Amino acid sequence: MKARILGKTGYQVSEIGLGCWQLGNDFGPVEDQEASAILHTAVDQGISFFDTADVYGGGLSEQRIGQWRQSLSRQPIIATKVGRDAALYPDAYNKAAIKKSLQASAKRLGVEVIDLAQLHCVPREVLFGGDIFAWMEDLKQEGIIKHFGASVEMLDEAIFCCAHPQLASLQILFNIFRQDAVDSLFPLAEQNEVGVIVRLPLASGLLSGKMTLDHAFDKGDHRSYNKDGVAFHVGETFNGIPYEKGVALVEQLKAKLPEGQNILDVSLRWILDHPQVSSIIAGASRSSQVVRNAAVSALPPLDGELHKLLSEFYRQQVRKEIRGGI
Ligand SMILES: NC(=O)c1ccc[n+]([C@@H]2O[C@H](COP(=O)([O-])OP(=O)(O)OC[C@H]3O[C@@H](n4cnc5c(N)ncnc54)[C@H](OP(=O)(O)O)[C@@H]3O)[C@@H](O)[C@H]2O)c1
Repeated sequence: MKARILGKTGYQVSEIGLGCWQLGNDFGPVEDQEASAILHTAVDQGISFFDTADVYGGGLSEQRIGQWRQSLSRQPIIATKVGRDAALYPDAYNKAAIKKSLQASAKRLGVEVIDLAQLHCVPREVLFGGDIFAWMEDLKQEGIIKHFGASVEMLDEAIFCCAHPQLASLQILFNIFRQDAVDSLFPLAEQNEVGVIVRLPLASGLLSGKMTLDHAFDKGDHRSYNKDGVAFHVGETFNGIPYEKGVALVEQLKAKLPEGQNILDVSLRWILDHPQVSSIIAGASRSSQVVRNAAVSALPPLDGELHKLLSEFYRQQVRKEIRGGI
C-alpha cells in the first residue's frame, strides 16, 4: 500500500483508507464480528487512515473503532467529524458545545487527543460566518485536537475553506461521476497545502458495477430512505444521481471501457491518478471489499486515452443528472 502526505497534518496516510459510516449500521446492520473483521482486514492490507463521525450510528462507529484500536501495536490515523449532532445542528453552534462533542468523540475513540477533527457539512451560513474556524483553532491550542479540516457538500464551500491558513484537510465528494474539483479546487488545495480526502469514491456503491434496477436496499440504509434526498442533502446518496439513471449510466460506461478493464478498479484508480488526493476513504460492508479496494493502490495509472474517455463521458452524459448542485 502506497502512502501520501495528508496536507498540513504531515501525516503519512494510506492511498486507500477506510470510510467507517457503515460501521454505525447506517447501511443496514453490520454485526460486531463483521465490523471487527473489516477493521482488522484493513490494517492487514496496509490501510492506515480511517474516517468516522460522532453521528455514525449515534457513536457506534467511533465506539467500534475505539475498541478495536486497543488491540493494535501501531496506531492508525483516525479522523472524525463534528457538527451534525443534535446538540449543534442546525443552529446551536458555539465553541463550548463543539468542545463537548469532540471530548465525547475522544472518549469513544479511546484517545487523549483527536488526530483530525473535520467540520461535518455544517450549514453554509455557519461555515461562511467564520467563527467556527476560530473555535477550532482554539481547540487545537487547548490540545483537544491535533488538526482540523472540513467535510463539505459544495465546491464553493471547499474553495472558501481552503483559504483558511490552518485548515489541514478537505473532505469532498469526488469520483468519475463527479469530476469538477479537478479544475476548480485542486490547484488551490495544492497551493495551500490542503490534503484532499475523497468520500463516496464509488458513488455509494453504484460504481462497483454490481447495482441493478431490482437491487433491494435495507430500509435502514440511507440508499433506501435518502435515495431522493428526503433525509439529508440530495447531492449525497448515489452522488445526487437518481438511482435508475445511475445504474443506466454505469452500464453505458461499462460498454465503453477497454477490454480487460473493470469499472470498480477504473473508478478508484482514476481518483488516485490525481496527486492532490491524499486518501480515498472507500466504504466497505464486508472484508472482501476492503481487500479488493486496497489492491487498487498497486495498479498502474490509467492511460491518457482512458482519462479522455472518462472526462468526456462525465461532461456529456453524467454532469447534467446530478441533483443538488456541485
Ligand atoms: N458528509 C460527509 O462527510 C460524508 C458523507 C458520506 C460519506 N462520508 C464518508 O465517506 C465514506 C465512504 O462513503 P460511502 O461508503 O457512502 O460510499 P462509497 O465508498 O462510494 O460506497 C461504499 C459502498 O460501495 C460498495 N462497495 C465498496 N467496495 C466494494 C467492492 N470492492 N465491491 C463491491 N461493492 C463495493 C458497498 O456497498 P454494499 O454495502 O451495498 O455492498 C459499500 O457499502 C463513508 O464511510 C464516510 O466515512 C462522509
